[in-house]
Amino acid sequence: MNVPKHVAIIMDGNGRWATKKGLARSAGHLEGSKTLEKLAIHAVDMGVNILSVYAFSTDNFKRSKEEVDYLMDLFIKMFKTKFDKITKRGIKVVISGRKTNLRSDVIEAIQNIEEKTKNNQAGALNICLNYGGQEEIVDGAIRLAKDIKNGLDVEGFTRDDFYHYLYQDLPPIDLLIRTGGELRISNFMLYQMSYSEFYFTNTLFPDFDKSEFNKALFIYENRDRRFGALNDKESN
Ligand code: IPE
Ligand code: IPE
Ligand code: MG
Repeated sequence: MNVPKHVAIIMDGNGRWATKKGLARSAGHLEGSKTLEKLAIHAVDMGVNILSVYAFSTDNFKRSKEEVDYLMDLFIKMFKTKFDKITKRGIKVVISGRKTNLRSDVIEAIQNIEEKTKNNQAGALNICLNYGGQEEIVDGAIRLAKDIKNGLDVEGFTRDDFYHYLYQDLPPIDLLIRTGGELRISNFMLYQMSYSEFYFTNTLFPDFDKSEFNKALFIYENRDRRFGALNDKESN
């Protein structure tokens, strides 16, 4: 089986999942967090090396204080206790995004989980929190500019070299999944998805279980990735 090395998920639809059931939006976020806990382990079990997930965008601060506070409290609980199975499965957890604007207790929980799992090698879970794809590129460009000012020679600098200036030094995304039915990227990992295969589903994230994930892997397996070249049949 041709398993994607790096899978990214835009975990959308938590609010609608809750509203449909007559519940508060927060109930959808809680259910979504449980789905994530299961998927992170399942992805590694299926042979995926890296799972990147969009948990909170820089633009999500535009939501009500109540919803933002709920989400921040949920992240703390996830990192401090709920991720026990993920930690024990040998998954390294890293958090990508701007640390400015984040509450100090959230930052502390982030440091805690990153430190606790830093030597884990079974796979990596990259959680994008207070994350923006354009922001990541801008932040990287600023770091690169500083290095140039300090004497870095950029003769021959390539698009691959720029990966070192992103938040995590991860490989490109092979498969990008968006749940919740919207057909957009919403400022997710723009640099890393230049040749990703896209999989959009109407399934709301809390309902995106292991079998839904497997469906996406199956579709991916049958895609013909050419990276600008021709496949074997075409070049004959
Ligand atoms: C995604 O679900 C999770 C976050 C953005 C934090 P939403 O909260 O966007 O759910 P919908 O799209 O309103 O249903
Ligand atoms: C993208 O979903 C962000 C996350 C899943 C964390 P949004 O719900 O914020 O995106 P839009 O507003 O529909 O584009
Ligand atoms: Mg949404």
